[in-house]
Amino acid sequence: MKDIMNKEVDDRKEDAIVTEKQLLPVQLNVNGKQYILHLEPWTSLLDALREHLGLTGTKKGCDHGQCGACTILIDGKRINSCLTFAVMYQGVPITTIEGLAQGDKLHPLQQAFIKHDAFQCGYCTPGQICSAQGMLNEGHAYSRDDIHELMSGNLCRCAAYNNIVKAIEEVIETGQTPDAV
Ligand code: FES
Ligand code: FES
Repeated sequence: MKDIMNKEVDDRKEDAIVTEKQLLPVQLNVNGKQYILHLEPWTSLLDALREHLGLTGTKKGCDHGQCGACTILIDGKRINSCLTFAVMYQGVPITTIEGLAQGDKLHPLQQAFIKHDAFQCGYCTPGQICSAQGMLNEGHAYSRDDIHELMSGNLCRCAAYNNIVKAIEEVIETGQTPDAV
């Protein structure tokens, strides 16, 4: 019996060694800062941001690519960070909601969301704003219908959709469209 238990302990030690060996050094460039993390190869970009860098502005909703709460920008393009691995983005500029404001000056989309009361609980808001910036970078939103369609990957359980669209529309109409980030 004792031998069996010792073998189980040894097996667990073996597992721990294998896991340690599987950590990879990963260099991430997030909001203009460089970080080196040691991650399991299967760590999602979302978990790297939230759990390893403490950037919890990016939210985990479904963790399955269906809600948009985890939307961030990779070199200006919006992606669902729950659906991709951190190791794939070494050295590529990553922008999260924490990187949009310039010091104390809010990003125009952040200001417009406040002005138009475009949130209730706020859980989806970081993803909505990053997605809206990505949509502006794409340059295909010309009407309210376009905004509705192009933002349809970002769900809002509080159904603040009308005000979200109004906020984005104002940023487009007033020409405050910020430079691509
Ligand atoms: S948490 Fe990534 S799409 Fe829902
Ligand atoms: S504001 Fe609550 S989920 Fe969108």
